[in-house]
Amino acid sequence: MLDAPTNRPALPPEIARRRTFAIISHPDAGKTTLTEKFLLFGGAIQMAGQVRAKGEARRTRSDFMQMEKDRGISVSASAMSFDFGKYRFNLVDTPGHSDFSEDTYRTLTAVDAAIMVIDGAKGVESQTRKLFEVCRMRDLPILTFCNKMDREARDTFTIIDEIQENLAIDVTPASWPIGMGREFIGCYDILHDRLELMDRADRNRVAESIRIDGLDDPKLAEHVPADLLAQLREELEMARELLPPFDAKAFLEGSLTPIWFGSAINSFGVKELMEGMAEHGPAPQLQPAEPRQVAPEEDKVAGFVFKVQANMDPKHRDRVAFVRLASGHFLRGMKLTHVRSKKPMAISNPVMFLASDRELAEEAWAGDIIGIPNHGQLRIGDALTEGEALRFTGIPSFAPELLQTCRAGDPMKAKHLDKALMQFAEEGAAKVFKPMIGSGFVVGVVGALQFEVLASRIEGEYGLPVRFEPSQFTSARWVHGPKDAVEAFGQANKQHMATDNDGDPVYLTRLQWDIDRVARDYPQVRLSATKELMV
Ligand code: G4P
Repeated sequence: MLDAPTNRPALPPEIARRRTFAIISHPDAGKTTLTEKFLLFGGAIQMAGQVRAKGEARRTRSDFMQMEKDRGISVSASAMSFDFGKYRFNLVDTPGHSDFSEDTYRTLTAVDAAIMVIDGAKGVESQTRKLFEVCRMRDLPILTFCNKMDREARDTFTIIDEIQENLAIDVTPASWPIGMGREFIGCYDILHDRLELMDRADRNRVAESIRIDGLDDPKLAEHVPADLLAQLREELEMARELLPPFDAKAFLEGSLTPIWFGSAINSFGVKELMEGMAEHGPAPQLQPAEPRQVAPEEDKVAGFVFKVQANMDPKHRDRVAFVRLASGHFLRGMKLTHVRSKKPMAISNPVMFLASDRELAEEAWAGDIIGIPNHGQLRIGDALTEGEALRFTGIPSFAPELLQTCRAGDPMKAKHLDKALMQFAEEGAAKVFKPMIGSGFVVGVVGALQFEVLASRIEGEYGLPVRFEPSQFTSARWVHGPKDAVEAFGQANKQHMATDNDGDPVYLTRLQWDIDRVARDYPQVRLSATKELMV
């Protein structure tokens, strides 16, 4: 049997009900607030404010971890699972810091859809645009939530135009706001012909929907003041003429985004957005891999590591590898093959994350994210299968564009710095090179702010003040070739050589000329700007 919009075999019901997605936004647009309301409606928390104490300054991931430490438990908001009606939502957190890191890209390889949150007064902002581009590279379906409609926002058509022009994607209204700012009373749900009114008295309450029989239904006038109703009718008529209707295929292909208007802090519009994700969002999709792609309905379990997080429990220094299951039905205790090392691995204590706790995962299905505690065996990009030598592709590795030397403020603590940097290298937060000659480490990142983030994390998590200084090198290249040739090359270029966190040889330089010279003088040696994540 084929599923109409996707043209793929119908999935087992447990897989078909899964929706795995991320929320992308510019800082301050309301991602945290929206996440909290999702968890509230998903029944994962009892009361808004449980995730973030009311009135408290905005929570960052590190605040969250501090909170966890204070409570003496080890949880993380990296991936949260909860039920919404008959659906299972897996919400994968995109890293919150304002700089852009590889982490962000990789997170988006683990999801099937994204929700783009924009601030109604600010429209499309820089970070939203960058994240959107990543979603587009993967043709991810995108649902848009225009937040803060309880404040003065831009005109609805202007907002929609801006998205269409700026992001080159068609926009279809799923709901239409009635009034704005102080006058905002709610939305007309275009997909279901319902009137949704905002309850200003109780931020956590959602008023009952009012079923409407088209725009001429006299019931509308009972709830909407005459001037706003006239405006609504006029705008909706224009919208019908100017904007495309909802089209499931275009949405699933990533060329059309439905937009909902609401106010996350008032819990308004959130339920409709969740219904949109449930009813129209994609079930787990095919995952690109070599030598063949992996379909979710396959019986055998396969998955890939898209994120490694260390220090989730500061006392144990354990690591949790986050695995997106690409296929099958996983049961706790299963023995899977760690494809890179070709070794079997018994997965005896996998965890799934609920908002307020982390639980042992007795079972999981394609589309789910499980956390596997380990001591460093599992790396980003690794595949776990029931024996097949699969390599998941599409998990990007980036050439570090900026290099700096990192030194411990206290030279006696250089050893600890070694450990801290190795941890970040394993997490994929930075590339770390130990030069053959001289002291210190050369650290490579993709965006300049990452140096600051690293410095503050090393200080916060290891109690180790560090300095980043300009490096004499500007480029790093991994050295490949027959062992003898690579060794001879290394011996002849000691001043330029370093090893990465796996002990693999890296050539550091500041001149393109040097790189060209290597190609000329050492024909057996090959330099590459990225190290493939898999061997
Ligand atoms: P982020 O994760 O995308 O950075 O945004 P976050 O949810 O933290 O929201 C940023 C600010 O916007 C917060 O205010 C939040 O309360 C506010 N906000 C979120 N949704 C809405 C909304 O629908 N309407 C209005 N008017 N404001 C909204 P803050 O002052 O920074 O923090 P707080 O003191 O309120 O916690």
